[in-house]
Amino acid sequence: MSEAKNNNNSFTLIDNRTNEKIELPVFEASVGPDVIDIRKLYAETDCFTYDPGFTSTGSCESKITFIDGDKGVLLYRGYHIGELADNSDFMETCYLLLYGELPSPEQKRKFETGITYHTMVNEQMSTFFRGFRRDAHPMAIMCGVVGALSAFYHDSLDINDPHHRLVASYRLIAKMPTLAAMAYKYSIGQPFMYPRNDLRYAENFLYMMFGTPCEPYKVDPIIARAMDRILILHADHEQNASTSTVRLAGSSGANPFACISAGIASLWGPAHGGANEAVLNMLEEIGTKDRIPEFIKRAKDKSDPFRLMGFGHRVYKNFDPRAKVMQQSCHEVLDALGVHDEPLLEIAMELERIALEDEYFIEKKLYPNVDFYSGIIFRAIGIPTSMFTVLFAVARTVGWVAQWNEMIEDKSQKIGRPRQLYIGKTQRDFVPLHMRT
Ligand code: SDX
Repeated sequence: MSEAKNNNNSFTLIDNRTNEKIELPVFEASVGPDVIDIRKLYAETDCFTYDPGFTSTGSCESKITFIDGDKGVLLYRGYHIGELADNSDFMETCYLLLYGELPSPEQKRKFETGITYHTMVNEQMSTFFRGFRRDAHPMAIMCGVVGALSAFYHDSLDINDPHHRLVASYRLIAKMPTLAAMAYKYSIGQPFMYPRNDLRYAENFLYMMFGTPCEPYKVDPIIARAMDRILILHADHEQNASTSTVRLAGSSGANPFACISAGIASLWGPAHGGANEAVLNMLEEIGTKDRIPEFIKRAKDKSDPFRLMGFGHRVYKNFDPRAKVMQQSCHEVLDALGVHDEPLLEIAMELERIALEDEYFIEKKLYPNVDFYSGIIFRAIGIPTSMFTVLFAVARTVGWVAQWNEMIEDKSQKIGRPRQLYIGKTQRDFVPLHMRT
């Protein structure tokens, strides 16, 4: 622990097998749960702790993001997500997550310029796309091409060099929209669009997604603002599965591009970032409001693997604060686009209403999460369903690199190597093939 306070607080553990007492120090959080330091437990008890899914385990100390699951609170470096979504922009939020403070006007200008001048990718990157089938899932492409960045940027691979880490962080934040747009263009057989240095981050991304070389393309400022806000909402989220994947990969000394590629792979899962795509597919499968009870019933049936996508969360046992902002943005974007009869939104709102009144969802504290409404906005903007999780990855890259940098700068960090409860066979003699029946 580099900075957490102990104040001589501790837990006393009594080993009932030996009646021995073990003092385990408690480290105090600035807000939220304190932690019990169990680092000496194995040496003193010959036992491991056991916590599949890490529901009660802190893997690190961090100053970046705080979540209060019971109150539905999310803070980036102490600032409430709702305040940032309403008053900040994604570039400023990136600066905040990376450096820990909101930038001055000059710091913000320099940061945005730094990101802008890293948005192009090496021209040879485009040949990787041609190796994929046109109908390849864009997340499969992103796993490949983001990892491949490490084959090009040898001047930002030394994880022990702070300047290398900073350049790699800028490159990843800057190049993700370019690569994401290339994955989309490749899937529809249109030419890649180069980033433009006169456009801001979200606007540039939408330009590369929907512009063509054949005519000028003007991004709708309302959509650009909605995209920017969505990026803010998805930027970081404490030690979620993909961030923990990035930290674990980084703990072995792997280069930053490889670590972010690992994070993309983890985010792809439907239980995690892939849920936004799964929500849209679920709403389309439901099709009409009168079929909602059938799906609610399936979600409650233990024998049915179906889960209500976009509902529930490991940490939030209240509304996901991002879902509230997303719902508000959903209505704003649809109104601005003059989309008033979006059947999927009608189904989503009715599904939310019914679920929130249902005893099962109330008892298990299952509320809509960040993925419940995002897909409806993305579809209204013209983003294809298969690109939804790619957008999540674009936004989350700043959180991943901020957490990766924090992990490397943490003096107490070492290679992540969990243990296990072994329940397999004890040692036995080998039986030669001719003696087996
Ligand atoms: C994200 O971690 C993060 O911070 C992630 C994220 C981020 O920003 O990085 O917030 C992004 O991943 C949001 C979550 C998106 N995923 C989904 O919407 C998929 C649907 N949700 C579930 O798969 C589930 O809620 C999880 C995976 C999100 C959380 O699972 P947990 O914490 O492991 O909870 P659990 O599976 O132990 O569920 C507790 C109970 C179970 O019933 P019992 O075994 O106790 O009887 O609630 C039930 C579950 O069956 N349950 C659901 C449900 N989610 C949980 N039942 C029906 N539908 C659901 N969606």
